[in-house]
Amino acid sequence: MHLSIGISFIIALQCMTAMAVSSNAIVYHVHERRNIDSSQTHIRRLEPDIKIPLRIALKQRNIEHLPEILMSVSDPSSPTYGQHWTAEEVARNFTPSNKTVHAVQKWLLESGFAESRLRRRNFGWIEIVNATVSEAEELLQTEYRVYARDSGELDMGCDSYSVPLHIKEHIDIIIPTIHSGTLRQHAGAPNRRNRKRALDLDLALPIGPNCTSIMTPDCLRKLYNINYTPRATANNSFGVVNFHPNTYLQSDLDIFFGNFSPSLVGKSPKFVSIDGGQLQDTSVGEASWILQYAMALSQPQEVTFLKVGDQSVNSPFGVVSFNEWIDAVDGSYCINKGGDDLNYDPQFPNPIPEPGAFNDHSCGIVRPPNVISVSRGDEEQRLGAFYTRRQCEEYGKLGLMGVTVIYGSGNTGTAGTTRGYCLDKNGSVNPNGTLFNPAWPSSCPWITSVGGTQIKANSSIADLDPEEVTNMDLTLGFHTSSGGGFSNRSPIPEYQKKAVEKYLMELKLVDGTKFNHFNIRGRGYPDLSVISNSFIAAENGELTQESGVSGSSPVLAAMITLINDARIAAGKRPVGFINPAIYSPAFSTGFRDVTSGVNTGCKGLQGESDGGFKATAGWDPASGT
Ligand SMILES: *[C@@H]1O[C@H](CO)[C@@H](O)[C@H](O)[C@H]1NC(C)=O
Ligand SMILES: *[C@@H]1O[C@H](CO)[C@@H](O)[C@H](O)[C@H]1NC(C)=O
Ligand SMILES: *[C@@H]1O[C@H](CO)[C@@H](O)[C@H](O)[C@H]1NC(C)=O
Ligand SMILES: *[C@@H]1O[C@H](CO)[C@@H](O)[C@H](O)[C@H]1NC(C)=O
Ligand SMILES: *[C@@H]1O[C@H](CO)[C@@H](O)[C@H](O)[C@H]1NC(C)=O
Ligand SMILES: *[C@@H]1O[C@H](CO)[C@@H](O)[C@H](O)[C@H]1NC(C)=O
Ligand SMILES: *[C@@H]1O[C@H](CO)[C@@H](O)[C@H](O)[C@H]1NC(C)=O
Repeated sequence: MHLSIGISFIIALQCMTAMAVSSNAIVYHVHERRNIDSSQTHIRRLEPDIKIPLRIALKQRNIEHLPEILMSVSDPSSPTYGQHWTAEEVARNFTPSNKTVHAVQKWLLESGFAESRLRRRNFGWIEIVNATVSEAEELLQTEYRVYARDSGELDMGCDSYSVPLHIKEHIDIIIPTIHSGTLRQHAGAPNRRNRKRALDLDLALPIGPNCTSIMTPDCLRKLYNINYTPRATANNSFGVVNFHPNTYLQSDLDIFFGNFSPSLVGKSPKFVSIDGGQLQDTSVGEASWILQYAMALSQPQEVTFLKVGDQSVNSPFGVVSFNEWIDAVDGSYCINKGGDDLNYDPQFPNPIPEPGAFNDHSCGIVRPPNVISVSRGDEEQRLGAFYTRRQCEEYGKLGLMGVTVIYGSGNTGTAGTTRGYCLDKNGSVNPNGTLFNPAWPSSCPWITSVGGTQIKANSSIADLDPEEVTNMDLTLGFHTSSGGGFSNRSPIPEYQKKAVEKYLMELKLVDGTKFNHFNIRGRGYPDLSVISNSFIAAENGELTQESGVSGSSPVLAAMITLINDARIAAGKRPVGFINPAIYSPAFSTGFRDVTSGVNTGCKGLQGESDGGFKATAGWDPASGT
């Protein structure tokens, strides 16, 4: 029987470390260990003769130099600022060394795998063809198991796996192993059904002259002093990535544009289908209002709509991973080649034969747009450490190629997306946890993380300092609080060191106990904040209100797109990775510092006065710079 990885996606994995020393006395070291998750129960050992798609991700050459290389093209004070690399240069520079390839090949040959079964995949990976469970167990000193999740879904894998000490330095991850299929939470926005407030189309809209209760494109233009019409649109690009099965209705875009951006009536985004993504024309999803703002604020720039995920019923909608859009804009990262982990990332071609299943894999099908906005997030702890590192490095490579990647910082303050829960001492999500639970990919230093603000009570956009950190009840039972905090994995990058250290020194004076709740050496986020509340939007023929950092991301992305336009029109390169510029003194007057408001803390801290982080002068993990 052949176990397709399509099943392993609904099924995830559990293996147990056996001996530390193999029979021929090679010393094995645990390479990765699964986070203990109480929602998973072991059911049985996996049958030994089942075939699994065993793949080894080799350590990339020069990857340790990525931070300095990225800074050299992204730091405005660098003499090589803006001299971005081509995709080919990036691929060549980071290809694993021959030493690494040879060491891993030698190990596999000595372990008894015939050379004909070892496939090199685009240099980055080695695949063992037709590997069985028993072969993998022997190679990795582990046991593969089937286990059930609380949800009833089955998973297969192992608890940890080991490799010889001399191999450890040459590999990133081996899959499939410790990572269970994860149901991603919608960090971009709370439950849509409950946070919407339908407004009657026939009523006069309560848009005060100062945009006190509702945000429109014009309000945002006034608030952020946006007054620029793009001129170099043919040579510029702006992409919005979306995973939700429901997309948008042209009739909704036209209602919105009719009210707020008349020249766009009848205009659609440029559609790019990734892994079978389709336009769905029966009801709308989050893409609808995100596109309305992205298009209105950057018009007449064409916006590319990158829709990820096919329509097969077994396709885990809402689970489709970030790696899929990265695969689509960078073929060298694609499955069998780059960073995909079949335990987080669905298998394409979709192995389950049914209507809507996509029978291909979108690798390198579209050039990366200059700016990419993603209104979605996860929790850092939910994903394996090697996996997040590899994906984070890939964001750095996109920056090196001149691409700005923007993710929202989440809507649950310092806590995770699951009911405001934080982490316990051993890093697991726990209702009683008091360690902040950082967002992914916001905790990666090589993306731009955008937090949310709202207009202060009794303030108007005409005021000098009208914004505060978003933290409010949307409707009964739904609270939104801008995400912020520190990575437990990525250290503070050079570009924000000064700003974060200044913040930490001040925090120590006013609220030293806060240090008990986060990693003071971690990458701090968000980098910037933008309005995240009360966007008016057209959905299913009605005007409604939408909130969440899902909106902040396309608004910021549109602004960067306008800046890129001005640069391209002047014969310059797009801005690419903007964080070094955001934090540089030369740009400090370019941003309005948000100094009011606080984000929420952990459910496990309720009853104590300990909330999340307060906005302060300068950078802070509530509002960014
Ligand atoms: C790896 O070895 C091949 C020949 O086996 C050689 O052509 C290539 O330049 C080597 N690559 C590196 C990075 O040393
Ligand atoms: C893998 O197994 C298939 C089916 O049994 C077989 O056709 C193929 O030759 C095998 N490949 C290798 C490299 O052993
Ligand atoms: C709008 O702002 C101006 C200037 O701050 C103020 O005088 C006016 O009362 C505000 N109007 C409303 C409706 O809030
Ligand atoms: C786009 O770039 C091409 C080639 O560099 C140039 O000829 C053209 O004028 C540019 N178009 C716009 C709209 O800037
Ligand atoms: C993790 O911590 C919780 C309590 O905080 C405890 O119940 C659990 O046994 C711990 N797990 C491990 C693997 O230490
Ligand atoms: C959380 O704390 C409460 C009260 O101490 C306790 O009853 C409960 O078992 C704890 N939950 C977990 C998951 O540790
Ligand atoms: C806003 O104005 C109302 C009415 O004047 C007042 O009751 C309320 O306290 C004010 N809120 C704040 C935060 O100043």
